[in-house]
Amino acid sequence: MPILTETMRQEIEAYTQRYATRQAALLPALHLIQRHFHCVPLAAIEELADFLGLHPAQVHDTLSFYGFFRDEKHPLGRHRVWVCRSLPCMLRGGEQLLEDLCHHLGIQPGQTTSDGSITLEFAECLGACELAPCILINDECHGPLDSDTARNLIEKLRQQGAEHGI
Ligand code: FES
Repeated sequence: MPILTETMRQEIEAYTQRYATRQAALLPALHLIQRHFHCVPLAAIEELADFLGLHPAQVHDTLSFYGFFRDEKHPLGRHRVWVCRSLPCMLRGGEQLLEDLCHHLGIQPGQTTSDGSITLEFAECLGACELAPCILINDECHGPLDSDTARNLIEKLRQQGAEHGI
Protein backbone atom coordinates (compact mmCIF):
# COMPACT_ATOMS: atom_id res chain seq x y z
CA MET A 1 0.00 0.00 0.00
CA PRO A 2 1.45 3.40 -0.96
CA ILE A 3 2.54 5.70 1.82
CA LEU A 4 1.86 8.89 -0.13
CA THR A 5 -1.87 9.54 -0.08
CA GLU A 6 -3.80 10.61 -3.15
CA THR A 7 -4.14 14.11 -1.69
CA MET A 8 -0.40 14.34 -1.15
CA ARG A 9 0.24 13.20 -4.71
CA GLN A 10 -2.13 15.84 -6.00
CA GLU A 11 -0.40 18.53 -3.97
CA ILE A 12 3.02 17.40 -5.19
CA GLU A 13 1.72 17.30 -8.74
CA ALA A 14 0.55 20.91 -8.28
CA TYR A 15 4.07 21.86 -7.17
CA THR A 16 5.53 20.36 -10.34
CA GLN A 17 3.43 22.76 -12.43
CA ARG A 18 5.34 25.69 -10.94
CA TYR A 19 8.73 24.53 -12.19
CA ALA A 20 10.41 23.83 -15.49
CA THR A 21 11.08 20.21 -14.50
CA ARG A 22 9.29 17.73 -12.21
CA GLN A 23 12.52 17.18 -10.29
CA ALA A 24 12.58 20.82 -9.21
CA ALA A 25 9.54 20.18 -7.02
CA LEU A 26 11.61 17.91 -4.78
CA LEU A 27 12.23 20.33 -1.92
CA PRO A 28 8.63 21.53 -1.43
CA ALA A 29 7.50 17.91 -1.78
CA LEU A 30 9.85 16.85 1.02
CA HIS A 31 8.51 19.61 3.24
CA LEU A 32 4.97 18.48 2.51
CA ILE A 33 5.82 14.90 3.41
CA GLN A 34 7.53 15.95 6.63
CA ARG A 35 4.56 18.11 7.64
CA HIS A 36 2.35 15.07 7.22
CA PHE A 37 4.49 12.39 8.91
CA HIS A 38 6.71 14.56 11.18
CA CYS A 39 9.61 12.90 9.32
CA VAL A 40 10.41 11.62 5.84
CA PRO A 41 9.90 7.84 5.89
CA LEU A 42 12.07 5.63 3.71
CA ALA A 43 9.05 4.39 1.80
CA ALA A 44 8.13 8.00 1.00
CA ILE A 45 11.62 8.62 -0.41
CA GLU A 46 11.19 5.72 -2.80
CA GLU A 47 7.68 6.71 -3.87
CA LEU A 48 8.61 10.36 -4.27
CA ALA A 49 11.63 9.45 -6.38
CA ASP A 50 9.41 7.39 -8.64
CA PHE A 51 6.78 10.14 -8.79
CA LEU A 52 9.29 12.83 -9.77
CA GLY A 53 11.44 10.71 -12.07
CA LEU A 54 14.46 10.66 -9.77
CA HIS A 55 16.64 7.94 -8.30
CA PRO A 56 16.01 7.41 -4.56
CA ALA A 57 19.67 8.31 -3.93
CA GLN A 58 19.04 11.75 -5.45
CA VAL A 59 16.14 12.32 -3.09
CA HIS A 60 18.27 11.16 -0.19
CA ASP A 61 21.10 13.50 -1.23
CA THR A 62 18.79 16.49 -1.07
CA LEU A 63 17.22 15.28 2.14
CA SER A 64 20.52 14.88 3.93
CA PHE A 65 21.98 18.15 2.62
CA TYR A 66 19.55 20.24 4.65
CA GLY A 67 19.19 20.19 8.40
CA PHE A 68 15.42 20.49 8.22
CA PHE A 69 14.45 16.92 7.57
CA ARG A 70 14.10 14.02 9.97
CA ASP A 71 14.13 10.30 9.34
CA GLU A 72 11.76 7.77 10.89
CA LYS A 73 14.06 7.15 13.83
CA HIS A 74 14.11 10.83 14.79
CA PRO A 75 10.64 12.22 14.06
CA LEU A 76 9.69 15.75 15.01
CA GLY A 77 7.31 16.55 17.81
CA ARG A 78 4.02 18.28 17.11
CA HIS A 79 5.77 21.64 17.42
CA ARG A 80 9.26 22.56 16.35
CA VAL A 81 10.98 25.29 18.36
CA TRP A 82 14.18 26.89 17.08
CA VAL A 83 16.22 29.09 19.41
CA CYS A 84 18.55 31.49 17.63
CA ARG A 85 22.13 31.34 18.84
CA SER A 86 23.79 33.74 16.41
CA LEU A 87 25.68 36.77 17.67
CA PRO A 88 22.95 39.44 18.05
CA CYS A 89 20.66 36.98 19.85
CA MET A 90 23.55 35.54 21.84
CA LEU A 91 24.56 39.00 23.06
CA ARG A 92 21.01 39.56 24.26
CA GLY A 93 20.66 36.29 26.15
CA GLY A 94 19.95 33.69 23.45
CA GLU A 95 22.34 31.13 24.92
CA GLN A 96 20.77 31.43 28.35
CA LEU A 97 17.33 31.15 26.75
CA LEU A 98 18.32 27.91 25.04
CA GLU A 99 19.83 26.53 28.22
CA ASP A 100 16.73 27.42 30.23
CA LEU A 101 14.41 25.81 27.68
CA CYS A 102 16.55 22.65 27.62
CA HIS A 103 16.34 22.52 31.38
CA HIS A 104 12.60 23.20 31.42
CA LEU A 105 11.81 20.58 28.77
CA GLY A 106 14.37 18.06 30.01
CA ILE A 107 15.94 17.63 26.58
CA GLN A 108 18.98 18.72 24.61
CA PRO A 109 18.89 20.61 21.29
CA GLY A 110 17.77 18.23 18.54
CA GLN A 111 15.65 16.14 20.91
CA THR A 112 11.89 15.82 21.38
CA THR A 113 10.03 15.79 24.68
CA SER A 114 8.80 12.39 25.81
CA ASP A 115 5.17 13.43 25.27
CA GLY A 116 6.01 14.12 21.60
CA SER A 117 4.88 17.72 21.87
CA ILE A 118 8.05 19.77 21.39
CA THR A 119 11.22 19.37 19.36
CA LEU A 120 13.83 21.89 20.46
CA GLU A 121 16.62 22.98 18.13
CA PHE A 122 19.15 25.75 17.88
CA ALA A 123 19.23 27.89 14.79
CA GLU A 124 21.63 30.29 13.19
CA CYS A 125 20.26 33.78 12.48
CA LEU A 126 16.51 33.62 11.93
CA GLY A 127 16.61 36.91 10.05
CA ALA A 128 14.80 38.76 12.80
CA CYS A 129 17.71 40.26 14.75
CA GLU A 130 15.58 43.25 15.76
CA LEU A 131 13.62 40.75 17.90
CA ALA A 132 16.72 39.38 19.65
CA PRO A 133 16.72 37.12 21.49
CA CYS A 134 14.14 35.32 19.44
CA ILE A 135 12.76 31.87 18.76
CA LEU A 136 10.85 30.38 15.88
CA ILE A 137 7.86 28.25 16.83
CA ASN A 138 6.76 26.30 13.79
CA ASP A 139 6.66 29.15 11.23
CA GLU A 140 6.24 32.08 13.60
CA CYS A 141 9.02 34.20 15.06
CA HIS A 142 8.70 35.48 18.65
CA GLY A 143 10.88 38.01 20.43
CA PRO A 144 12.41 39.61 22.24
CA LEU A 145 11.81 36.90 24.82
CA ASP A 146 12.97 36.20 28.32
CA SER A 147 12.98 32.64 29.60
CA ASP A 148 9.66 32.96 31.45
CA THR A 149 7.82 34.27 28.41
CA ALA A 150 9.33 31.58 26.17
CA ARG A 151 8.40 28.85 28.65
CA ASN A 152 4.83 30.17 28.86
CA LEU A 153 4.50 30.21 25.07
CA ILE A 154 5.71 26.64 24.84
CA GLU A 155 3.53 25.43 27.70
CA LYS A 156 0.51 26.99 25.99
CA LEU A 157 1.30 24.95 22.87
CA ARG A 158 1.64 21.76 24.89
CA GLN A 159 -1.64 22.50 26.63
CA GLN A 160 -3.46 23.01 23.32
CA GLY A 161 -2.17 19.69 22.08
CA ALA A 162 -3.27 17.93 25.26
CA GLU A 163 -6.77 19.46 25.04
CA HIS A 164 -7.16 18.17 21.49
CA GLY A 165 -5.79 14.76 22.39
CA ILE A 166 -2.76 15.15 20.11
S1 FES B 1 20.90 36.71 15.29
FE1 FES B 1 19.05 35.90 16.03
S2 FES B 1 17.65 36.49 14.53
FE2 FES B 1 19.52 37.25 13.77
